[in-house]
Amino acid sequence: MIIKNLMDINSSPIFYKMDGFVHDPFFLKLEGLNIAKSVKLKTARYMFETHEKNGNIIKDKTRIICSSSGNLAIGLAIICKDKGYPLISVVDPNTNTLAKKLVVLYGGETIEVTERDNSGGFLQTRINLINQMLLEDKNLFWINQYDDVENYNAHYHTTAKEILHEIQNVSYLFIGAGTTGTLMGCAKYFKIHSPETKIIAVDSVGSVTFSGKAARRYIPGLGTSIAPSIVDRSYVDDIIWVEEPDTIRTCYNVLKKYGLFVGGSTGTVLHAVSTYKYSKNIKGNIVAISPDFGDAYLDTVYNPEWVKSKYELNLGDL
Ligand SMILES: Cc1ncc(COP(=O)(O)O)c(C=O)c1O
Repeated sequence: MIIKNLMDINSSPIFYKMDGFVHDPFFLKLEGLNIAKSVKLKTARYMFETHEKNGNIIKDKTRIICSSSGNLAIGLAIICKDKGYPLISVVDPNTNTLAKKLVVLYGGETIEVTERDNSGGFLQTRINLINQMLLEDKNLFWINQYDDVENYNAHYHTTAKEILHEIQNVSYLFIGAGTTGTLMGCAKYFKIHSPETKIIAVDSVGSVTFSGKAARRYIPGLGTSIAPSIVDRSYVDDIIWVEEPDTIRTCYNVLKKYGLFVGGSTGTVLHAVSTYKYSKNIKGNIVAISPDFGDAYLDTVYNPEWVKSKYELNLGDL
């Protein structure tokens, strides 16, 4: 295959059939094989291009700003480089080092906030800074993944369609919930095109997206400390909350058993799949989405000292 644009490296049609992972046929949709190495390239590209088409983003005038714990920033950095727009990514001490370095390598700028918000995280601090910067600079445009319907529209028009195109009779679809863009886009599409599919949202314990109080979480990707406005619980059939130590165990087990080096949120989703009690009456396939691979988590999920210090877990015992 010869491509002219690196963003056309398209991993989307690739599903890994994980035999023996659960009793039923199980397919993991691998979203980490594109040039930005995560599902967020789709979000970034769709949101950027929609706002460019609508005239909200104008060449040689607009500067792009985003708040991201990693993957959206990488996606946007690649797109801004490709299309010739300046990018500012607001990050925090938990943003992975790879993302911070890649944004700068691609020609963007990072601004790091260090003050914790009322819930103990950094999200509100990042958003406050962006709001202040937007007031001061009319040429800044915020690719706002928390509140913009174009986040889930991205997945409505891509991820969801790709699943139904490849796999018929999906009985259960497991999707991790971060900003809930992937979840809501797929849930809204399936509601119309495959209403019999059960949509299972996977969240981290300590996240407030669907309910509950914020608690300290260490693995980025899933979970929020402020519920995103785009989430709509009525599209979700069930929610599973996963503890971070279970995410770690699953990441290691999948690496050992399948040779698959997954990111933290994929470990969380896979744990939910393996523990969910399926209805015996439903025929069909189980599908889950893997947002990225393990590269960005070498210093955390795959670092024995880090795991020991955060969870009192010995990786040798797993
Ligand atoms: C690694 C990873 N997993 C899962 C998600 C969640 O996706 P969404 O924001 O569409 O809910 C993200 C979002 O940034 C992510 O980076």
